[in-house]
Amino acid sequence: MSTFTITQNSPWLAPLAGYSDLPFRLLTKQYGCGIRCSEMVSVKGLAFKSSGTRRLLATCPEDDPMVLQLFGSEGRYFEPVMEKLVAMGYRNYDLNAGCPVRKVLKSGSGVKLMEDLDNLVNLASIMVKKAAEHPDGGRVGIKFRLGFNKGEDVYIELAQRLEDVGVDWVTLHPRYGKQMFAGAADWGKLAKLKQAVNIPVIGSGDLFTAEDGHRCIEETDIDAIMFARGALYDPSIFARFIALRKGEEGPARDGAFLAQIVREHIRLTREYEGDGRSFRKIRSIIPRYAKGLKGIRALRGSLLACEDWEALDEAASVIATLEKDSSQNE
Ligand SMILES: Cc1cc2nc3c(=O)[nH]c(=O)nc-3n(C[C@H](O)[C@H](O)[C@H](O)COP(=O)(O)O)c2cc1C
Repeated sequence: MSTFTITQNSPWLAPLAGYSDLPFRLLTKQYGCGIRCSEMVSVKGLAFKSSGTRRLLATCPEDDPMVLQLFGSEGRYFEPVMEKLVAMGYRNYDLNAGCPVRKVLKSGSGVKLMEDLDNLVNLASIMVKKAAEHPDGGRVGIKFRLGFNKGEDVYIELAQRLEDVGVDWVTLHPRYGKQMFAGAADWGKLAKLKQAVNIPVIGSGDLFTAEDGHRCIEETDIDAIMFARGALYDPSIFARFIALRKGEEGPARDGAFLAQIVREHIRLTREYEGDGRSFRKIRSIIPRYAKGLKGIRALRGSLLACEDWEALDEAASVIATLEKDSSQNE
């Protein structure tokens, strides 16, 4: 088992709905990702045993340390659901107080929670209390933005109150809820938060490359960074970041290296999910990894023609022969 240690040189995988599933988490672990967050799981869905949640809860011993991210807004569901999850063996939890998607906001969850800090802190304290019932001691983090409305900063008050109720770490994506993904993430606010609390601060936002991650740590002195969109395009971003922190060079991004990533992602998806839905999903993800190589269009076509796992692996192995396209980004 790996340890749950929060350090500047150990990058996290962000919670990514639709992407940070078990196969992807295991893939990023191979490239040095230290702690990996699950996709967000609805507390209400768990309370009512919705069928969609089973897949989101998938884990295995090699997945450790993973953080199960929850979203919801009603305290009455949190207590029984946390009890159930702790009994199932989940040890590390996160609460999503940053998602700005309309469907999530409508239920009062995600970044909408930042409009009612009393409720948000209450949900966090339920999670802390229940996670503590894990035989090895549970851990809880909360992920949030600067505030809901533009210019209304509540993140420092929130983080201090979360620290007071025993939350183990906080993750800040320094944009406002209303901003969605527009504008730039304000890393200066990460530095401010680091000064304002004693628990670890994890940073998220506009970390597209290993260099971004390194610069963010240097500029803010936060405790760790979390790759999100950067990892979707390059699951080896973790290895590049770790190399950079040591002053070393990361792996070359050539066809052979990218083919290895893709084939491993296919293998893990087949082994841990293996159904038609996961097949179609991985088939659509692969071309993204081959970005920057010549001939991706043809690759996309041959992937789409694949109807079984063997054919998919064979089509993906062609990536090893593709050369870098220096003229354009396809
Ligand atoms: C496709 C996608 C799905 C996401 N899903 C979640 C989620 O389930 N929970 C969450 O807290 N944040 C979610 N986020 C936000 C990311 O975790 C991260 O905070 C955000 O993308 C900013 O980091 P970046 O600019 O480096 O991508 C998602 C972002 C993207 C792009």
